[in-house]
Amino acid sequence: MDRRELLKSAAAASAGAALTQLGIDDAHAASIPDSRIPIPAADSMAGVPFARHDTVRIAIVGTGLRGRSMLNEWLGVDNVRITALCDIVPEKVEQARQMMRRAGHDHEPAVFTSGERAFEELCRRDDVDLVYTATPWQWHVPVCLAAMNAGKHAATEVPAAYTLDDCWRLVDTSERTRRHCIMMENCNYGYNELLVLQMVRAGLFGEIKAGGAAYNHDLRAILFENRDEGLWRRDHHTKRNANLYPTHGLGPVAFYMDVNRGDRFDYLVSMSTEEAGLTEWREAREPKDSPKWKERYVTGDLNRSLIRTAKGRVILLEHDVTSPRPYSRINSVQGTKGIFEDYPPRIYFDSARPDHRWKAIDEFKAEHEHPLWRSLGEKARSGGHGGMDYVMAWRLVQCMREGLAPDMDVYDAAAWSAPGPLSERSVANRGRSVDFPDFTRGRWSIARRSMA
Ligand SMILES: NC(=O)c1ccc[n+]([C@@H]2O[C@H](COP(=O)([O-])OP(=O)(O)OC[C@H]3O[C@@H](n4cnc5c(N)ncnc54)[C@H](O)[C@@H]3O)[C@@H](O)[C@H]2O)c1
Repeated sequence: MDRRELLKSAAAASAGAALTQLGIDDAHAASIPDSRIPIPAADSMAGVPFARHDTVRIAIVGTGLRGRSMLNEWLGVDNVRITALCDIVPEKVEQARQMMRRAGHDHEPAVFTSGERAFEELCRRDDVDLVYTATPWQWHVPVCLAAMNAGKHAATEVPAAYTLDDCWRLVDTSERTRRHCIMMENCNYGYNELLVLQMVRAGLFGEIKAGGAAYNHDLRAILFENRDEGLWRRDHHTKRNANLYPTHGLGPVAFYMDVNRGDRFDYLVSMSTEEAGLTEWREAREPKDSPKWKERYVTGDLNRSLIRTAKGRVILLEHDVTSPRPYSRINSVQGTKGIFEDYPPRIYFDSARPDHRWKAIDEFKAEHEHPLWRSLGEKARSGGHGGMDYVMAWRLVQCMREGLAPDMDVYDAAAWSAPGPLSERSVANRGRSVDFPDFTRGRWSIARRSMA
């Protein structure tokens, strides 16, 4: 060893010794995802059934585009009563009330419009079983915490949280209050996603090795609108260079791989391109006196991450909402016997005489269509996002009425949202790997089935 190498290894050894004193090994230290050391296990909420509810009483916080669209779904589900509505804009609540009247809902909801924290009063009501929030991202965690602390189950739009501390807050509060916190990941209920899930479980793909997930959706026009998401979503593009919206693609792939039910996300590496999409859009379309010219966009147009699971599976995860491109969530799964990729859907299985060509998926529908789609499909298809929203709304109500465990729990909400902050860290560190916290506190290895 020459002198330089000797000095380097001595420095490494003393740094390592210091970290070892803190109980942290040096290989791990480079990727500590969070200042928090998980507290000793409270009782897990995994697989905990709901108490049975004859009627499911739902309060909605945030009656903007998404809140009203989910209201519309719930108005079509039997045994649901919408008992309270909340928004900082009274006209939005009024629009929701009118929808309820038109649908013949026989119950007048309580209304909360007095300000940004009016949801706290809503959560204290005693005629609410589930508080669903479809607010801008920064309000998801405060609303969920207020709901659970007041003894209500919480349901949130995606992503549930965008810091690791907030992910942990949801987990801690769900466990302490014994209330569920469900992230309403509608894409897990998509027709193709549930078809493929059935085929994975029937063993058609063999042992699952890899998956692909994305939210690739040109939102440039929406991000620059002076209403709805344009009022708050573009702001995130001035703050974080990361995958801002990881859950739509990742949730279904997590189901294919039984993540948190036998496998878990272990670590992630991430890189972003430079930003240009929003800057060019503004240049071409925004009047020169617009306040939007004060903004500086930092989110790279395309973010690509790779996640490795504890069982050695690899997931490609993409985010691009600022480039001209067709919509895609990738939605792929690959195993030892075959592969499926979506957008457009296509499939390939091993055979004695490989022809190396994709096939259509239609021939698999008769046998493998998910029972939820078989029974609800016709009604669902008239609803939002091709029907997945209705299937999700119906299924949550079924779980609450029949006393089943929810399909997706707080550990899923935390793990599927975590690539947001983890990708930010990795991007800022030249793509170094960062570890996922184990939100299940070690219970991920217990094999279970979601949607059992
Ligand atoms: N799952 C999906 O397919 C899907 C689709 C669209 C949006 N979303 C999610 O839904 C959420 C809402 O998006 P959107 O498109 O409806 O946006 P939006 O801007 O149309 O609606 C947000 C609403 O929240 C209200 N609001 C803001 N702060 C509030 C507070 N403190 N208390 C009560 N109300 C408050 C706003 O006035 C607005 O009416 C976001 O998290 C978004 O990511 C999910």
